[in-house]
Amino acid sequence: MLDMNKPRTVITYGTFDLFHIGHENIIRRAKELANGGRLIVGVTTEAFNIERGKIDVRDSFEKRCQNVMATGYADEVIPDISFPQKEIDIKTHNVDLVVMGHDWEGKFDYCKEWCDVVYLQRTPEISTTILKEQMREGVSKSLNEELRATYNPDGSVLRKLQMRELDILLYV
Ligand code: CTP
Repeated sequence: MLDMNKPRTVITYGTFDLFHIGHENIIRRAKELANGGRLIVGVTTEAFNIERGKIDVRDSFEKRCQNVMATGYADEVIPDISFPQKEIDIKTHNVDLVVMGHDWEGKFDYCKEWCDVVYLQRTPEISTTILKEQMREGVSKSLNEELRATYNPDGSVLRKLQMRELDILLYV
């Protein structure tokens, strides 16, 4: 059972790529749950990301660790290199509580053999996946605008022909 007042050692894990407010929130809330105790954050290594099929991680391991430390909530950052490592981490660091976002619901339940586990609600409407999609859309939009301005600006011969063809198509 969670003792709400006792200082404890908390651990949480993540990739923390393109660091965003959802990451900061879960790290802050994990630290709050430590009740003045320690927060350890496991950051996935590049090799572990590849092993799990996460091949489009933008930030280096070092940058992701720096971003986690920059929140000021983590007392220690450790490399997250594998699934079986969790048991070792919990025992080596005397972890009392594992905290994960609710997208991991149930997946860390096996750790209940050694400590408590809680899943917190994710911060809505933000994720690394969403940020990557927005970046892709932004790049393709600005590239299209640049190509159009260079090769096919309003009033160019090509543009006039295209508009004429459109008139014909609409007529047909
Ligand atoms: N997290 C959260 N709220 C979000 C996004 C992430 O609480 N909006 C939590 C996750 O539940 C996890 C931790 O932050 O416990 C690290 O998540 P991570 O997978 O690195 O970030 P995501 O933004 O979920 O990345 P992806 O879109 O690649 O899944």
